[in-house]
Amino acid sequence: MKQIIIGNWKMFGLTYQVKDLVTKLLSGLKQFSPQADIVICPPATQLSNVASLIHGSQIALGGQDCQADDLVTHTGDISAEMLKDIGAQYVIIGHSERREIHHETDAIVQTKTVQAQDWGLIPIVCVGETEIERRTGAYRDSVKKQINEGLPDDFNGIVAYEPIWAIHGGMSASLQEISSMMQIIRKELAKRFNRTTAEGIRILYGGSVNPDNAESILSLEGVNGVLIGSASLSAEKFLAIIRSSV
Ligand code: G3H
Repeated sequence: MKQIIIGNWKMFGLTYQVKDLVTKLLSGLKQFSPQADIVICPPATQLSNVASLIHGSQIALGGQDCQADDLVTHTGDISAEMLKDIGAQYVIIGHSERREIHHETDAIVQTKTVQAQDWGLIPIVCVGETEIERRTGAYRDSVKKQINEGLPDDFNGIVAYEPIWAIHGGMSASLQEISSMMQIIRKELAKRFNRTTAEGIRILYGGSVNPDNAESILSLEGVNGVLIGSASLSAEKFLAIIRSSV
């Protein structure tokens, strides 16, 4: 399965910064033939700017969230239809920061995923455990619950495993931890859907991925790509990670 490298820019950046970063990325991508699909997910204010800058390139556009319905009465939100309209092909759903800060439950994640799919977007559904769940051994059940309750029956997207304790801290999960979770997630997907469907779903790892650990993470059996936060804000680092795809 072709790997996919996704940059989640979170609340970066200002127009001049975005122009600079995308220009460097595009010029760097001319130096080699990437093995993987490449996606960047800027904040809503920069979607249009990034859409113009990457037009005609091999970089695809993604949103960081979409609203669960099509009603207009949602101040501050954006709909899946609006993402589609601006040229997005992907949307991140249920990132742990949204689950925590915006109190998004698995039920909401599922509704948003359905909405994204209905508008022809590929949902990137994030799952992952807290540090306490990892320490107490509850992490497997926590992630399985997010898969069973957050994904719709007709799920047709990507699952990103992001242990919350590994995000933005500079310390990724160990290769063994990642490997084991990839297997647990794949098995749970097979139970939730069926084996063939599960084998066709790309499962990503996210959490402090950087140029130093990307190659070993991307070489692990069952890792179909990575979801990158901080390192995607540096063209040099993001390009180095893209080069590490297998
Ligand atoms: O969506 C990306 C993740 O939250 C990972 O962020 O690479 O800064 O740890 P990070």
